[in-house]
Amino acid sequence: MRSLLLVVLSAGLAIAEDGLNAWLRYAPVPGASGNTFPSAIVALNKTKSSPVYIAGQELQKAASVVVGSLDQYMTATNSKYIPGLEVDGFWLNVKGSSVQIVGQNERGALYGAFEYLSRLAQGNFSDISYISNPSAPIRWTNEWDNLDGSIERGYAGPSIFFKDGYVVDNVTRVAQYARILASIRINGVIINNVNANETLLSDRNVQGLGRLADAMRPYGVKLGISLNFSSPRGFGGLDTFDPVDPAVIAFWGNVTERIYHAVPDMAGYLVKANSEGQPGPLTYNRTLAVGANLFANAVKPHGGIVMFRAFVYDNHINESNWKNDRANAAVDFFKDLDGKFDDNVVVQIKYGPIDFQVREPTSPLFANLLQTNTAIELQITQEYLGQQDHLVYIPPLWKTVLDFDLRVEGKPSKVQDIISGERFKRPLGGYAGVVNVGTNTTWLGSHLAMSNLYAYGRLAWDPTSDPQAILQDWIRLTFGLDPAVLSFITQMSMESWPAYENYTGNLGIQTLTDILYTHFGPNPASQDDNGWGQWTRADHNAIGMDRTVSNGTGFAGQYPPEVAAVYESLETTPDDLLLWFHHVPYTYNLHCRKTVIQYFYDAHYAGAETAQTFPVLWSTLKDKIDAQRYEDVLFRLNFQAGHSIVWRDAINEFYFNKSSIPDAAGRVGNHPYRIEAENMKLCGYKPVNVTPFEMASNFRAITTSSKSKSGTASTKVDFPSGTYDIGVSYYDVIGGKAKYQLYLGDKKVAEWKGDNEDHLGHAFSTMLDGHSATRKTSKGVEVKKGDRLRIVGSPDGGELAPLDYVVFLPAGKGIVD
Ligand SMILES: *[C@@H]1O[C@H](CO)[C@@H](O)[C@H](O)[C@H]1NC(C)=O
Ligand SMILES: *[C@@H]1O[C@H](CO)[C@@H](O)[C@H](O)[C@H]1NC(C)=O
Ligand SMILES: *[C@@H]1O[C@H](CO)[C@@H](O)[C@H](O)[C@H]1NC(C)=O
Ligand SMILES: *[C@@H]1O[C@H](CO)[C@@H](O)[C@H](O)[C@H]1NC(C)=O
Ligand SMILES: *[C@@H]1O[C@H](CO)[C@@H](O)[C@H](O)[C@H]1NC(C)=O
Ligand SMILES: *[C@@H]1O[C@H](CO)[C@@H](O)[C@H](O)[C@H]1NC(C)=O
Ligand SMILES: *[C@@H]1O[C@H](CO)[C@@H](O)[C@H](O)[C@H]1NC(C)=O
Ligand SMILES: *[C@@H]1O[C@H](CO)[C@@H](O)[C@H](O)[C@H]1NC(C)=O
Ligand SMILES: *[C@@H]1O[C@H](CO)[C@@H](O)[C@H](O)[C@H]1NC(C)=O
Ligand SMILES: *[C@@H]1O[C@H](CO)[C@@H](O)[C@H](O)[C@H]1NC(C)=O
Ligand SMILES: *[C@@H]1O[C@H](CO)[C@@H](O)[C@H](O)[C@H]1NC(C)=O
Ligand SMILES: *[C@@H]1O[C@H](CO)[C@@H](O)[C@H](O)[C@H]1NC(C)=O
Repeated sequence: MRSLLLVVLSAGLAIAEDGLNAWLRYAPVPGASGNTFPSAIVALNKTKSSPVYIAGQELQKAASVVVGSLDQYMTATNSKYIPGLEVDGFWLNVKGSSVQIVGQNERGALYGAFEYLSRLAQGNFSDISYISNPSAPIRWTNEWDNLDGSIERGYAGPSIFFKDGYVVDNVTRVAQYARILASIRINGVIINNVNANETLLSDRNVQGLGRLADAMRPYGVKLGISLNFSSPRGFGGLDTFDPVDPAVIAFWGNVTERIYHAVPDMAGYLVKANSEGQPGPLTYNRTLAVGANLFANAVKPHGGIVMFRAFVYDNHINESNWKNDRANAAVDFFKDLDGKFDDNVVVQIKYGPIDFQVREPTSPLFANLLQTNTAIELQITQEYLGQQDHLVYIPPLWKTVLDFDLRVEGKPSKVQDIISGERFKRPLGGYAGVVNVGTNTTWLGSHLAMSNLYAYGRLAWDPTSDPQAILQDWIRLTFGLDPAVLSFITQMSMESWPAYENYTGNLGIQTLTDILYTHFGPNPASQDDNGWGQWTRADHNAIGMDRTVSNGTGFAGQYPPEVAAVYESLETTPDDLLLWFHHVPYTYNLHCRKTVIQYFYDAHYAGAETAQTFPVLWSTLKDKIDAQRYEDVLFRLNFQAGHSIVWRDAINEFYFNKSSIPDAAGRVGNHPYRIEAENMKLCGYKPVNVTPFEMASNFRAITTSSKSKSGTASTKVDFPSGTYDIGVSYYDVIGGKAKYQLYLGDKKVAEWKGDNEDHLGHAFSTMLDGHSATRKTSKGVEVKKGDRLRIVGSPDGGELAPLDYVVFLPAGKGIVD
């Protein structure tokens, strides 16, 4: 007999944690020392590449039990068949010191082992006996890794899969990743960018695929790849990639044979075609179904699947036509193809009709494909949601879609029941989560962002589960069982999506980020006047897309009648999607009785205020979390608090400027606690205009006059004597690490560098804009009226120590200016 404590004795608060083990830390559980476990582990398969063997290894790290697949279990123990187990499912039976973990298959046995360990790690030693089965067969991630090692929308360092044009030699991290995925029951990974590079098909890389698959196989995780549709021409040397051309068919047959030779259990292909300028079957006037079936035929003999993305749209549509609408594209392209896809094709549909926005209505395509397999595409990587530098716990957003009842043919038709295959009796379906992990030991670049990955797996397995309950499992596994830790991280995480929506884009207007550049900071003007179709149609009087059938783009009519009727009418459209479906004056009164414009102002203030509480809550956990993770997270939460104010002011200024309607509470454009840098006494600094204008307080900032000499901005402090939190708003641009020193009289209050890129793991912008704008706050500073405030900025490279303003917030008054 031995205790769980013995196994993991060394893990404790004193030891820094780098995040590599994610939620699989097997940390000591308080009060567990009295609990003992059986001393023998009986893993019923000794083959090292077997998930059952791995299950035994995992269990060895904590406890001991009998684990195996159903067949193995019946043979080894002479037991009866266990009814009710489905593919990948497991039975977990704990009775005192006797533990049985039986998977329907080997993968299921491993899932059961992780489930058991998760219970122990959370301090739950109670007897239980239950069967758990997956909601859907496809539970995959999509990684957007490029062969050169970069990752599209990746925020955690370079690829774990590729380097310098080839598959990596060292697959340690790949196996570690597979372990993490297996623990949340993910069974497939598409390892390369949907914008696929055809050189993946070279002999050397195909051999590399075999190496990656070998590393993941023991964890029950299958490998799949994205294909470039035009490879027959670009790679195969043909003069066409027409999907019905016999030479093209032969080319793909040959490629597929070669890959299955290296990876006999390859999961399948992911195809992005005719989207955002990419080639596809439409290039040859063939339907998307013909294109998808080309690959389906090639992988069918091997049991492979083709995931075909529904993200097909024209990115050159003309906004001057009131009826044009990118949101219509998916149904327009796919509806008539229903029933034309082969049985091993799955149409992969983003949760909303546009692109991973902070709020979107459920994609109506789920209600238009009744004879086609479908999967939902969710995004764990936070492309439009703060890029892992803002805490945003996304599952509550996903749940709005998974739980949405589309009322197809007047019957209950929740999205989760459509993609599971149940509603329309389809053989396949499920989940694709865009994850984009990198080589950073935190996997996603941020410790807290890992809750999204954890919850993704849990929801794909069981979409009826509660996002807060999942979150709390993750918190206990990741940070331990302290009640304050549980309570505060729960509070921050559950408030994070509503807060982010509040300070980015409200009422269904979308994330008002810069869609033409990095998708990070604010730039509402970038939504309109281009062909991308993420329009707001904001003018002096009104805002929103008219997507009604009666007078607009007709998008509302893509839903089944009951749902369409709700969205067609202003009265019944919920406030949080109002501007998605309707074009209304800024003075329109919402159900909540505010006008649209006042709601914008209030929500932006409320959201930014909520974000200010995150670092405060986190700071109270200082003694309860290891220093490394504590500091990493604190840095990000402080960044978010500052950047939420950048967002708030930019959006509010922008719509104040557009509408000329003042904020009833008098906040917008009125900042009594600020000193504008351009109004200070400048020496070696010069004022600059910032574009767009709303990205600087009072529309102007300052930069040093020279690339090599320091500048000074100074002024007399005119605020009453007292204790203040002093915030300095500046810009941290790509291309240098300027130095800043803040003085009050002769006393140095703070000193820092424009080196966010080193802490946040990615750089934002070369310009003074909403991506680079940031704030450094020094708390609890004693200030005397008449003190001389002085900032010395020393430029570095292309970073001319840019400054926007300084703000003096009376400490403890809850003022956010
Ligand atoms: C043991 O695991 C290997 C690899 O997964 C598998 O091929 C083999 O069939 C398993 N043995 C039994 C008896 O199930
Ligand atoms: C342990 O798990 C069981 C079953 O999942 C649950 O009913 C019980 O409340 C849990 N107990 C504790 C102490 O968490
Ligand atoms: C494809 O990858 C190769 C090798 O990294 C690279 O040379 C080439 O530029 C890439 N092609 C595209 C279109 O990115
Ligand atoms: C492979 O990568 C792992 C983890 O990154 C590292 O610890 C190990 O030293 C590497 N092995 C070799 C041979 O480079
Ligand atoms: C796909 O291949 C074609 C050439 O065949 C190339 O022009 C295109 O850029 C490729 N796409 C990507 C994302 O590499
Ligand atoms: C694929 O094509 C190459 C080059 O034409 C050829 O050498 C190889 O034998 C083919 N492989 C298969 C599996 O058809
Ligand atoms: C494309 O196909 C449609 C119907 O199959 C046909 O009417 C049309 O003329 C074709 N266009 C071209 C450019 O081949
Ligand atoms: C959009 O349509 C309008 C009106 O038909 C036309 O004047 C304008 O040139 C078009 N814009 C583009 C970019 O095609
Ligand atoms: C991980 O990223 C952080 C910044 O987010 C950086 O400070 C750290 O050095 C990175 N570590 C590794 C191993 O890449
Ligand atoms: C109807 O559409 C026109 C554009 O065609 C637009 O100007 C008008 O505001 C819309 N009317 C209503 C009531 O939304
Ligand atoms: C979001 O804004 C609304 C409207 O001002 C407010 O009622 C709500 O409390 C805010 N929520 C968060 C989390 O900031
Ligand atoms: C809006 O901004 C423009 C350009 O910066 C400026 O000319 C105009 O006066 C501003 N309008 C309001 C109402 O602030």
